[in-house]
Amino acid sequence: MLDSIEIYLGEIRNFPIANLEELEKFRLHYLSKKGIIPQLFEQFKALEPSQRKEVGQKLNILKKETESRFQSHKDEFESQVVDSYMEGLDLTLPGKPEKIGSRHPISILRKEVIDIFSRIGFIVAQGPEIEDDWHNFSALNFPPEHPARDMQDTFFIEKNENKEGGDIALRTHTSSVQIRYMESGKPPFRAIMPGRVYRNEAISSRSNCFFHQIEGLYVDKGVSFADLKQTLFYFVQELFGKNTKIRFRPSYFPFTEPSAEMDITCQNCGGKGCAICKHSGWVEILGCGMIDPQVLINCHIDPEEYSGYAFGLGIDRMALNRFKVSDIRIFFENDIRFLSQFSSLLV
Ligand code: PHE
Repeated sequence: MLDSIEIYLGEIRNFPIANLEELEKFRLHYLSKKGIIPQLFEQFKALEPSQRKEVGQKLNILKKETESRFQSHKDEFESQVVDSYMEGLDLTLPGKPEKIGSRHPISILRKEVIDIFSRIGFIVAQGPEIEDDWHNFSALNFPPEHPARDMQDTFFIEKNENKEGGDIALRTHTSSVQIRYMESGKPPFRAIMPGRVYRNEAISSRSNCFFHQIEGLYVDKGVSFADLKQTLFYFVQELFGKNTKIRFRPSYFPFTEPSAEMDITCQNCGGKGCAICKHSGWVEILGCGMIDPQVLINCHIDPEEYSGYAFGLGIDRMALNRFKVSDIRIFFENDIRFLSQFSSLLV
């Protein structure tokens, strides 16, 4: 065996390695699992103990030499690859700019609203966009055939008059999430619920067949309309600035009593009157009210013990004013020339 090790040593020193291909041949022939060196180690195991010392030493020398020849050629070829790549490079040239995405304007606004409410303890809750009649209408006090259902032209998915939950539709407002949230636990509840809603309406520059709402809900012992007003006043001042005023107008929603719509001073003219506010100085931004006791009962909450308020604001129209965009449809065309204008607003 000593002789054959000697022969292999000569072979290894003279094995031609001029490129990566030959290096790989070398590796396969000598070093791979079935290569010559592992085979020699196998034979070594069968030797008489008296022969082992000398053969073992030689074998180790052979292994070391093979490995070091392999490694030195490998290093050499790798550095050649880097060299040839670097040759054509001018490191003084400026780098290629990476294209950075941006938040969608609706998402920017939604995030601002969420941040403002989370500072006063509201958490975020969500519900499904495909909703049943119970959560979208009945639990919110819209009885069947009630004319209030016509206020919200609905996209139906499945008519299920006799099944539990009733018809399946695209939710027409995020108030459905109020019901799901109240059904799922015990008061106190303090949450905002952002989401997309759908209505079968004529599409124009100011309305679309889908849009985005943020619902607010607060239920606890002794919640009053004063709490609602103060919370919304805080919100408006945070979002639109300290000079913005609010006013409430009586309104009607089946699930709140009393109900109101809230206006803010027009951001375009500062309240003086312009085309956007139809020369009134005010712009409506949300509907709100005290949760009707029957709605609490529908969610297994005792209205003698608890009271609460709710509000729902649409963020698409707010985004129109905020970003001075003239047509609501542009938000959803995914035109990169439009969307990239918001990249500096990565908040
Ligand atoms: N869901 C109502 C709408 O979409 C808004 C609203 C929410 C009103 C909560 C009162 C309370 O028009």
